[in-house]
Amino acid sequence: MISFITHLTVLLSFFITFTTAQSSTCRTSCGGIPINYPFGIDDGCGSPYYRHILVCSNSEKLELRTPSGRYPVRNLSYSDPHILVSDPLMWSCDDGEHFRPTRPFSLDTSTHFKLSPQNEYLFFNCSEDHVIMEPKPAFCEHFPEHCDSSCDSASYLCRHLPGCAFALTSSPCCSYYPKATESLRLMLKYCTSYTSVYWRNVGAPQPYDQVPEYGIRVDFDIPVTTRCLQCQDPMKGGGICGFDTQTQNFLCLCKDGNSTTHCKDHDTARHNKMVHVIAGTVSAVSAAGAFGVGAGIWYLKKLRAKAPVTCGVQSNDNRLF
Ligand SMILES: *[C@@H]1O[C@H](CO)[C@@H](O)[C@H](O)[C@H]1NC(C)=O
Ligand SMILES: *[C@@H]1O[C@H](CO)[C@@H](O)[C@H](O)[C@H]1NC(C)=O
Ligand SMILES: *[C@@H]1O[C@H](CO)[C@@H](O)[C@H](O)[C@H]1NC(C)=O
Repeated sequence: MISFITHLTVLLSFFITFTTAQSSTCRTSCGGIPINYPFGIDDGCGSPYYRHILVCSNSEKLELRTPSGRYPVRNLSYSDPHILVSDPLMWSCDDGEHFRPTRPFSLDTSTHFKLSPQNEYLFFNCSEDHVIMEPKPAFCEHFPEHCDSSCDSASYLCRHLPGCAFALTSSPCCSYYPKATESLRLMLKYCTSYTSVYWRNVGAPQPYDQVPEYGIRVDFDIPVTTRCLQCQDPMKGGGICGFDTQTQNFLCLCKDGNSTTHCKDHDTARHNKMVHVIAGTVSAVSAAGAFGVGAGIWYLKKLRAKAPVTCGVQSNDNRLF
């Protein structure tokens, strides 16, 4: 297992190091934020799994598209794969107790994105008739699996709102991590507003290694394929991994034309359409035989287990406690 992880780490550092080659078709940054594999802001660049996910506006503003809207991207890291976005409609210090209408953040679960466990949501002015606010120690002893379902009104973040400890004087605050979009939507039915805080790693010794900041951290997976590694290999021409916009099949984007393998493989690059189809079939067949060739190795954690959608909100199932 350890050697497997080492192997992945080597593959990954290889990915991150050799993504410098330029192609006129793929922009490599937007507003100062580097755009590398698996992302692309020009169609056909990056992995098809993340097609149309990032948008670079004419004014060089990078945005993440999700089913709930477009969110400004504040930063993007490939070494600890995550995207930081902000939601201008979420509560911020300046709002104080003048709550503005908000919208529940959601992610497309068919993409390789997930809400980071480093996020915490804070809900304001929730109806105590509908939202479970107080921990119930006696109940929790018997049913620990139900106990993360209450919105914690005594949480650290509610008592120390980052950047504005005393912004709320009369409105109650509680902290809760909704595990599904549906439970966030339900919470917002019974709370006036909310905000998201993520714990940013600052590399200091524990317990001071993380500081809270407003924003949403979205984790992503990097699909590592040997085809893409070969394409990016500087010894093989240092191309950029991309895909055919019609078929979504892998393409290595090179300065002097595209290839289904890598940039020094001129035969493939100059073949006509008919031969391209055959080459595609051949590589698919050899992929089935050779370990890892052409097959996606998904780097990083599994998806979080789906939680009951009614968590945090009183329902007939949890009303008894
Ligand atoms: C290479 O592929 C990219 C992305 O699919 C496309 O935009 C570009 O036109 C292709 N270039 C050539 C020379 O076929
Ligand atoms: C963005 O991320 C990079 C790499 O993780 C980090 O060095 C940089 O400080 C971050 N910038 C901001 C504004 O947070
Ligand atoms: C708090 O919620 C109550 C009812 O849920 C609402 O009437 C009230 O206006 C809210 N307070 C603020 C400051 O928005």
